[in-house]
Amino acid sequence: MNYRVLRGKTIVLGVSGSIAAYRAADLIRRLQEQESDVHVIMTKNACQFITPLTMQALSQNPVRVDMFDLSSERIGHIETARMADIIVVAPATANIMAKAASGIADDYLSTVLLATKSPVLFCPAMNPAMYSNVATQGNIKILRERGFHVLEPETGPVACGEAGRGRFPAVDRIVFEIASILSEKSLAGVRIMVSAGPTREFFDPVRFISNPSSGKMGYALAEAARLRGANVHLISGPVSLEPPPGVNVYKAVSALEMHEVARNLAPSMDIIIMAAAVGDYRPKKVAPSKIKKKLANVQIELVQNPDILAELGKEKGSQQVLIGFAAETTKLVEHAKEKLRKKNLDLIIANDVTKPGSGFCYDTNQVKILYRDGVVEDVPPMSKLRVADRILDIAGKMLAEKRDESKRN
Ligand code: PMT
Repeated sequence: MNYRVLRGKTIVLGVSGSIAAYRAADLIRRLQEQESDVHVIMTKNACQFITPLTMQALSQNPVRVDMFDLSSERIGHIETARMADIIVVAPATANIMAKAASGIADDYLSTVLLATKSPVLFCPAMNPAMYSNVATQGNIKILRERGFHVLEPETGPVACGEAGRGRFPAVDRIVFEIASILSEKSLAGVRIMVSAGPTREFFDPVRFISNPSSGKMGYALAEAARLRGANVHLISGPVSLEPPPGVNVYKAVSALEMHEVARNLAPSMDIIIMAAAVGDYRPKKVAPSKIKKKLANVQIELVQNPDILAELGKEKGSQQVLIGFAAETTKLVEHAKEKLRKKNLDLIIANDVTKPGSGFCYDTNQVKILYRDGVVEDVPPMSKLRVADRILDIAGKMLAEKRDESKRN
């Protein structure tokens, strides 16, 4: 994912002495892909696991280890603390968290942590017994109470051969967390339901009718909404994507299953965005066992599925924003306009799925956003995350207007 909020940001990466220190190298690369400027501070113990030279070559900035190395020091610890948009300690040992919790400043990294006013994210990685130790847990509690962010490590086998909670988190999760901390929380507390992916309409136990939706558009919407602090409920058809952290996921295979989940969730939602490619039809009968190839001329009778979005449109609350997508192959605006009106939507995203780089499976999309008053906004080709951002800008504004309107009445 490409997070606009990370572009041009100065990220100070503190690396402490854990076997996971080598994973910081991957983190630097991923942050650079986001066009962030990364400055590394290493503890002396971290240098036992990975060399400052490696970190310097990757970050393309001087690496700081020693407080009193006057020869290499161009910027002091106070300047380092000030210039950071965020300080990320990854991996964070029990020792560095204990120092930060106690206000100990006896090396470059701990001194910067004491001097900074920027947000700080600790990404712990250690032996599970060290992680669950009351001292470590007590220090984490103190850090959180003081406004530091501490990412929960993952559970599984760790380097020492034991298993449990203490594994270094996936680099994608750390990047998401940094983006989330730096994002403006414009949708804090707003409840959003997003649907994503295809549905599968089975006609025997191993075969189904479906479509090429990958879920990328819907997942991007869920991710962007989460970054803005929304309370996100993602109804997902069968896709092979990892859901964004902190999102409530409801799995649905068929249109009927998606319908069931959506109608239960919808009444308590502020914003609903249906990006799923829901099957309009399902086989009338599902054969109990696999249909044999030797049967010639198999005919499958189809019946119509409920139109989930149209139903939500009928029951839409006065303070609810309802947004649909229209996947079209001809007469894009005309067909989308009709869906906007018929389904009682506030907004529809018209998606020409015949255009290269747009629609199914691509990481990018090119859409037209249609408003109820007839305005059509052209969104040029861009990443699905940026398209999602634009949709959420509008959705947030519409919600605020509806809330103001209801206060006036
Ligand atoms: O998942 P990706 O690979 O990223 O691809 C993204 C996408 C192309 C799937 C997405 O951008 C998109 O266009 N989604 C809508 C697909 C679709 O079903 O369009 P439609 O024109 O058939 O349906 C109109 C709207 O009604 C949609 O919001 C759809 O979710 C909804 N619908 C449709 C049928 C149905 N039975 N119930 C519904 O709620």
